[in-house]
Amino acid sequence: MPVGYSAGGRDAGRVGAAPSMHAGRDCTIGKVARGEPVIAIDGPGSSGKSTVGALAAARLGFRFCDTGLFYRAAAWLALERGVPVDDGPSLAALAPDLHLEADGAGRYLRVRAAGRDVTALVHRPEIDRVVSEVAQQPELRAALLPRQRELAEEGGIVVAGRDIGTVVLPEADVKIYLDASLPERARRRGLERGIPAGEVDGDAARRTRDELQARDAIDSGRASAPLRVAPDAIVIRTDGFTLEQAVVAVVNAIETARRAVRHRP
Ligand code: DC
Repeated sequence: MPVGYSAGGRDAGRVGAAPSMHAGRDCTIGKVARGEPVIAIDGPGSSGKSTVGALAAARLGFRFCDTGLFYRAAAWLALERGVPVDDGPSLAALAPDLHLEADGAGRYLRVRAAGRDVTALVHRPEIDRVVSEVAQQPELRAALLPRQRELAEEGGIVVAGRDIGTVVLPEADVKIYLDASLPERARRRGLERGIPAGEVDGDAARRTRDELQARDAIDSGRASAPLRVAPDAIVIRTDGFTLEQAVVAVVNAIETARRAVRHRP
């Protein structure tokens, strides 16, 4: 089980029978008619978008894409090639070398940069420290926008990021904004980094929290596609949730929103 969530018991929450891949075949929402729905999940760092989103997508029979991997891989390649992290045009020129890869279940959770699988490298602290700076460059964002839209084109996918419901896929069928307090997100990130749960006030834990807060400020304060709650998003706060409870909350929100749309006169 991914670290950071409360240990759930058998009563942690249950989801009813997941609909099949084809349950939403007649889904026609907004201006776009598609075979399968598109679900956007946005939220701040360590809010669980990737872990919770991937598990929710699997239960619903949808593919999953973590768009943060594009920005992380751009940051990795920039450091590797000595490209300044604030040089938007040069960062944009790296975009054709970045490729997300799906596993057999249609989860885009791996990323290649210049042909090399860098998935294990892009979650390191040195990438965390520069990725928000990289991601705020409008030229890079513009270069990655069509790449993200392409992945969602067929539908039947949950796409996680910061600006998915607001900019990348504003006509997404369901939009979720996954949130948690800064201390909770810092605790989860700390556990991922091997900081024991009890040491919330230690130096390493404090540094983790400060870094997360600094990244929040850049992601929310940037001029280009800042992190925002889309007006039509369902906000889910996961403080105190087990991982299972968070997944159930997301699955239920998606199913409820889709039912409401199908039953609209
Ligand atoms: O979700 P994450 O921590 O892996 O994201 C890494 C960085 O990329 C973070 O600074 C936010 C940015 N990002 C973004 O600006 N837009 C997205 N759609 C996804 C991530």
